[in-house]
Amino acid sequence: MKKDIETEEVLNLLFSFMPKIAGENRLENLLETMADLGKQLVVADRCSLWLLDKENNELWTRVAQGLEGITLRMSADKGFVGYAVQTGESISIKDAYNDKRHNPTSDTENNYRTRSVLVIPIKDTAGEIIGAYQAINKLTPPLKGEKHSYFSERDREFLGLTAVYSGKTLESAILMNEIERTQREALFMMGEISESRSRETGNHVKRVAQYCRLLGKYYGMPKSELELMVLASPMHDVGKVATPDSILKKPGRLTDEEFDEMKRHTIIGYEVMKRSPTRVFQEAAIIAYTHHEKWNGFGYPNGLSGVDIPINGRICAVADVFDALSNDRCYKKAWPLEKVIALFEEEKGEHFDPDIAQILLDNIDRFEEINFKYHDEFIEE
Ligand code: C2E
Ligand code: SIN
Ligand code: SIN
Ligand code: FE
Ligand code: FE
Repeated sequence: MKKDIETEEVLNLLFSFMPKIAGENRLENLLETMADLGKQLVVADRCSLWLLDKENNELWTRVAQGLEGITLRMSADKGFVGYAVQTGESISIKDAYNDKRHNPTSDTENNYRTRSVLVIPIKDTAGEIIGAYQAINKLTPPLKGEKHSYFSERDREFLGLTAVYSGKTLESAILMNEIERTQREALFMMGEISESRSRETGNHVKRVAQYCRLLGKYYGMPKSELELMVLASPMHDVGKVATPDSILKKPGRLTDEEFDEMKRHTIIGYEVMKRSPTRVFQEAAIIAYTHHEKWNGFGYPNGLSGVDIPINGRICAVADVFDALSNDRCYKKAWPLEKVIALFEEEKGEHFDPDIAQILLDNIDRFEEINFKYHDEFIEE
């Protein structure tokens, strides 16, 4: 059993957490940090911060699990948290099982016994409810004459104050999150524009981004670099907007002149995107420039070889060709998997960085899965 924390400790706790909270702009990390603070503040066994997703009428939270963390979702109409976000009232309950609002399925699923519960709604600066703090199972010894412990009026005040102070930080993190989502969509859309003139539906760029994520992850790329590459990779063929339709949509083989014209998409994409000071576009410019270079030096436009080719270009080359072979193109049918595998066996160390080609070969099932999931409806014109 634990003791309630003394007033002085409360101050220490707040002083140690406030800079962490104020300096954190990743929404997911913020949720975990605030939940951790709440848990220590009111001495609860569990504490989560749920955010309201109005579009889907759901509440979601992020819990640490292993290195990655997982997202949990539940209906915004059910349970104590649902009640608190609908009504704006805070709730303190001695025993959840004596209350109709309790939703015992989460207990049975997790083999857990929820007893005392404290829920505090969180509002943004405009006064709109954006989520709620939820603390479960007070850990201090029960009061005299009581069988179980529960959250006090003081706990409600502490958590309520924390909710008020953190509301603003939370609000700006939510906004940042939205901006990032919007940016990601915009990048996909730009990539798709270069694709949509050819007969594939826009899934090619989505698949390439996913393959790049897998390849980069297994290669051991640091997380921030990986994210940047994944965001930038959909734009690898943006330069194709300048390629004439007569070449881009030609059903048969290209002549040498036509292929020379096609090759310019690497340079055009690079020239256009390198003008942007944004890191994502800088990265996209490099990928556009180098995704047709070959490990053996026989690629284009510069005939770079080996590790002189930036890692993102080497990764995107594997992703792009795997996708081109595994799907129908206006000039060819999709290849059977064995033939795709044979090509990568043959070309590793020639066209492709051998380590990256090997990662693809070792995990081919996962790549095929992505290809299947984002399959193109081939549109006949
Ligand atoms: P893409 O269709 O996305 O193909 C990307 C890369 O996948 C190609 O780069 C090539 O390395 C590989 N690839 C695609 N299909 C095949 C194939 O049948 N056999 C082999 N061995 N590799 C294949 P590459 O060759 O530099 O071509 C760049 C882009 O030029 C292609 O992008 C496509 O848009 C266009 N293209 C290439 N060849 C032809 C063609 O014969 N006809 C037409 N209409 N377009 C072509
Ligand atoms: C909730 O607290 O809203 C869900 C779990 C429960 O009802 O105890
Ligand atoms: C692509 O390389 O992005 C697909 C365009 C095509 O092959 O038609
Ligand atoms: Fe290309
Ligand atoms: Fe491509």
